This record gives sequence, structure tokens and C-alpha cells, in this order.
Amino acid sequence: MFVSGTLPGDALVRLAAKHEVVQDELGIAGDAFAAASDRIKGMLALLTDRIDDALLARCPHLRVLANVAVGVDNVDLAACAARNVVVTNTPDVLTEATADLAFGLLLAAARRIAEGDRFVRAGRWTGWTPTFFLGARVHGSTLGLVGLGRIGGAMARRARGFGIHVLYNQRRRLPEPLERALGATWVPSLDELCAASDAISIHCPLTTETRHLFDAARLAKMRLGSILVNTARGPIVDEAALAAALERGPLFAAGLDVYEGEPAVHAALLARENVVMAPHIGSADGPTRAAMAGLAADNVLAVLAGDPPLTRVVAK
Ligand code: GLV
Repeated sequence: MFVSGTLPGDALVRLAAKHEVVQDELGIAGDAFAAASDRIKGMLALLTDRIDDALLARCPHLRVLANVAVGVDNVDLAACAARNVVVTNTPDVLTEATADLAFGLLLAAARRIAEGDRFVRAGRWTGWTPTFFLGARVHGSTLGLVGLGRIGGAMARRARGFGIHVLYNQRRRLPEPLERALGATWVPSLDELCAASDAISIHCPLTTETRHLFDAARLAKMRLGSILVNTARGPIVDEAALAAALERGPLFAAGLDVYEGEPAVHAALLARENVVMAPHIGSADGPTRAAMAGLAADNVLAVLAGDPPLTRVVAK
């Protein structure tokens, strides 16, 4: 089997106990993959690997592709289905870590924490005044969640601890008991969510429908002085339009973990003080990353042993 990149935890040892493992730091672009592709039956792929039909054609014996990520926008699910390749992802194990980072970005963007850090380090701090470094209020504000799935729900639970009023929008409204348990109120359209929220946090997958969901027109619907947080996938937000909305309004600030052309970031965003940027580390705490690798390994081991996968992804 092929393992793309390096894996934290004991996943590699467990895989190697049962199968021949070929590993390549360079992922599917590396020589090791090229040499092994026509015999591998299982593969652990990273979100940076583009798994399309051309790639699958190089792996005629592939039976299972375990993406070490919850998002599968890097995988052509239809091509996998056509070639009878089972696709799996890593839901649940990264939910809380990703919500931790999303909430951190909300706090950092609203209260200008990273900007303040730069300011202090640059030796520009000359003293305290009542009007100095004013930010946006977090506690008691209204947070709009774009998607109330696993990670959106974890964000809602964190928000409640801060006395935040939680709204959400997604295609299908959740059953009322679940809404009550999460303390979240459904809003029928995304534009209404934008108009009613002091901050918006994105928790939906990247699909053809959600690409540039936050374009110039949508950003213009957000409240004056509001905040946008994106820990989902970069292309859901039009970066050039976001930079303009951060410069000319209506946005006060943004907190980003994901970008349209990772690892590149739009120059207009890099030039702005009012955006906090993390380098795609939503799930990057040690135990979470080990659990993701472990789940991906378990999926491959299960399918190659003739058992059902633990967390299969099927094309909708
Ligand atoms: C990370 O971005 C993931 O999808 O797991």
C-alpha cells in the first residue's frame, strides 16, 4: 500500500504489520509512488493530493483510498466509484480541534490579538489610552454558522459558553430538539444570516455549489463591523473580494485558516492588518492528527481484510 507524506502516531507501524508499505514524503508526485502505483491496493492520501481519474488509471489494483482529512474536495468521488475504489475520510476525530481553532480565530480577529502582538514586538506601543486598539465585542454578540454539522455544532457549543446568540443556515433545517440542544436558531437564507450576524463562521464542505459562496455580493450583505471566519476550505471565499471588504467595509476583520491557492495567499490579504491568518492547522493538535492517521489506517486495513470501511464517503 502507499502512504502519502508522514503519519503521526502508530498508524504506519500497524499498517506495516499487515502489508508492504511504500511511503513518500512527496506524496503522489514522488518517485516512490511512481514505482509502486501499478501494484498498490490501498492508499492513504493527503488533502494536498489531487486524486482524479488520471491518477486512478495509474493504480489499476487500488481498492481503497483513505483521505487523511474530513474534506474530500481533493478526490474525484465519481471517478473512484466508477473504478470501484472505496473512499473514506476522517470525520468526528477532528471536530473539537477544528472548532477550537475557529473559535480562536474569532477571538483573535475580533480583539486584534495577532495585530497587537505585531504592534508590541515592533516596539510601537507607547502607552495605554481608553481609545487604544479597540476591537469588536465577542461575548453577547450574534454568531452565524454556515453549516451546523459536526464542526458547526462544536462551534455552537463553544459560543454558548461566551453568551453568544447562535444562528445558522444550511440547506436542510435540523430537527427542533437538536436545534434546542445546540441553542441554535435556523435562518432561512444565507443573505439573512449575513444581515443578522456580528460574525459568520463557515463550516460547510467545498462543492460546486459552495465555491465562492462568499463573493463580493455576499460579503456586501454582511453587517457593518462584522467578522468572517473560515476554517473550512479556501475557495468558499473569494479572497480578492474579501480583501476589498476588509479595506472598504463592511467587514471589521477576518480569521482564516484556509486559502484559495494554498500555500499561496492573495497579496491583498497579506497586506492587511485586520486579517488573522493560520497556515491550515485546524486539526493540528498532536492527539487529533494521530487519531486521523489511525482512522485512515483502520479504514484501509478493514477494506483490504474484506470488512466494511469505518467511515466511507459516497458521492451525493
Ligand atoms: C482538513 O482540512 C480536513 O479536511 O480534515
